[in-house]
Amino acid sequence: MRVAQLSHCFLIPEFWGDIAKDFYWKSKHTGQFLDYNFDVKKGEIYIKCMEGATTNICYNVLDRNVHERKLGDKVAFYWEGNEPGDVMKVTYRELLQQVCQFANVLKSQGVKKGDRVSIYMPMVVELVVAMLACVRIGAVHSIVVSNGFYRGDKLINLKVIADDALQKFILCGVFTCVWFRQVPWNPEVDQCWRSLLSGASDECEPEWCDSEDPLFILYTSGSTGKPKGVLHTVSGYMLYVATTFKLVFDYQPDDVYWCTADIGWITGHSYITYGPLANGATSVLFEGLPTYPDVSRMWEIVDKYQVTKFYTAPTAIRLLMKYGSEPVQKYNRESLKVLGTVGEPINPEAWQWYYSVVGEKRCPVVDTFWQTETGGHVLTPLPAATPMKPGSATFPFFGVVPAILNESGEELEGPCEGYLVFKQPWPGVMRTVYGNHQRFETTYFKKFPGYYVSGDGCRRDKDGYYWITGRMDDMLNVSGHLLSTAEVESALGEHAAVAEAAVVSRLHPVKGESLYCFVTLTDGVGFNRTLEAELKKQVREKIGAIATPDFIQNAPSLPKTRSGKIMRRVLRKIARNEQDLGDLSTLADSSVIEQLFLNRCCGA
Ligand code: PRX
Repeated sequence: MRVAQLSHCFLIPEFWGDIAKDFYWKSKHTGQFLDYNFDVKKGEIYIKCMEGATTNICYNVLDRNVHERKLGDKVAFYWEGNEPGDVMKVTYRELLQQVCQFANVLKSQGVKKGDRVSIYMPMVVELVVAMLACVRIGAVHSIVVSNGFYRGDKLINLKVIADDALQKFILCGVFTCVWFRQVPWNPEVDQCWRSLLSGASDECEPEWCDSEDPLFILYTSGSTGKPKGVLHTVSGYMLYVATTFKLVFDYQPDDVYWCTADIGWITGHSYITYGPLANGATSVLFEGLPTYPDVSRMWEIVDKYQVTKFYTAPTAIRLLMKYGSEPVQKYNRESLKVLGTVGEPINPEAWQWYYSVVGEKRCPVVDTFWQTETGGHVLTPLPAATPMKPGSATFPFFGVVPAILNESGEELEGPCEGYLVFKQPWPGVMRTVYGNHQRFETTYFKKFPGYYVSGDGCRRDKDGYYWITGRMDDMLNVSGHLLSTAEVESALGEHAAVAEAAVVSRLHPVKGESLYCFVTLTDGVGFNRTLEAELKKQVREKIGAIATPDFIQNAPSLPKTRSGKIMRRVLRKIARNEQDLGDLSTLADSSVIEQLFLNRCCGA
């Protein structure tokens, strides 16, 4: 409980000011440490941290480690490829050299401070190099999640996917594409990573950036269907991810840390690239799958590199749990000290398996709740300091002040359940939706003026522990990835055979939630297996493999209110075969329900 109380009373400028002393600042900040308005009624929403200071994150995570902390020979990443024998390592000094070289390549291609650079690469060291090279010259990276080149025994051709995307963008100012693995070539736009790098100098002065200059944009699903470009800025994000990494994983200099996320997701940005490198940590960077060549792969890697801190998602834990404890126990895992989880609520059964089988009850489990928007952990235990409760993200991190509101926006006291909101910013919170500040205000600050609205439901128990109950909006969480129902519905709606679509989630033993789609077909079109497969393919191609629907049900009509709104709440119950449908008084035509129950898709 002390941890919870502490975070309410500590002094923000003193706490963060002390931490900032460990970093390099070209010039010091002049104004307040954290200046903000969180209340739409008082004017525009803004958050500013350390205004007036200038710095460069790349300098802080590489040059400072190599030159001041003398960590040049320390391994920054052990890279483990898809095939077990495919390995390499890179030290801090080597990483700095490569980053400077690629920064010079970017400059030679005309990239300058403030330009946006899209990166579409698999889980390789060159991805980190590309990110940090952008940061070094003050360019803003936007990483598009890729599935990797090799995943298990499948070869995924990123080049074809990227060429297809580029066809659409070529008219809007994409000049150059740099490729680092053998791919079919288009000499007009494609250039080779290695030959560009080999001619480039390995010295590059960093571009000094203002604290509130943009650092990166990361697109995440929006509940209206159109993805939002979440924008993070330089200084606050740097301090926040460095500190949460250090305290939440109880970072020690001889640690070997492994986060299994993809760098293209926020977890990879904050806790593979920026947080660990800011601390001078050694990490494992893994390109493959947890099940290839067999389901022991994770634990083999843990033993091979003597991993001490391990961070993964509940969906991976549930996947491996299916195979029992034998594949885990083939390896001894004695090096492990802290186990982390992120991305979705972890069910107590998976938590217990992780704690007892993987960690042999020796390792605290840190269930970290956060979002692309929060930049870093906001509700989380601190290992060994916070008594754990399986399935609870426990308490707020220092300086984070959550509240739980009811539907009328009143703050609830004591044990309660409602909307999870935050009353004040922390340095790492997002600053805007790229190119659409109004959308930022509407999405996060309008429903309950004076608060940042997370979109998640939450329960607080009698001991003050926070328990995330899931999304309160039309968002789904499939294998730790947020998807909006509207996004999937519009992908389905683009098919000529579909007149209307409604998408809900159905619980899934491994993925947490899966997509269950109801489609009303255009007149005269019949529902069959071929159409079903076509619709699945359409969604996969428009949004990505993660969004592939598990179920598509033919729905001659959908349950709607008298004002014509689809009642997704009712559809969710049908998808889950729950007979108690709650209040149906606003339902326009109750006869549709029986039909939908009869046509339900069965199976897992
Ligand atoms: O619903 C919450 C869930 O994931 C959402 C954020 O998704 P995204 O922006 O993609 O970032 C994922 C990685 C940080 C949240 O709104 N979520 C994330 N972590 C947890 C969680 N739900 C419960 N417990 C968690 N530990």
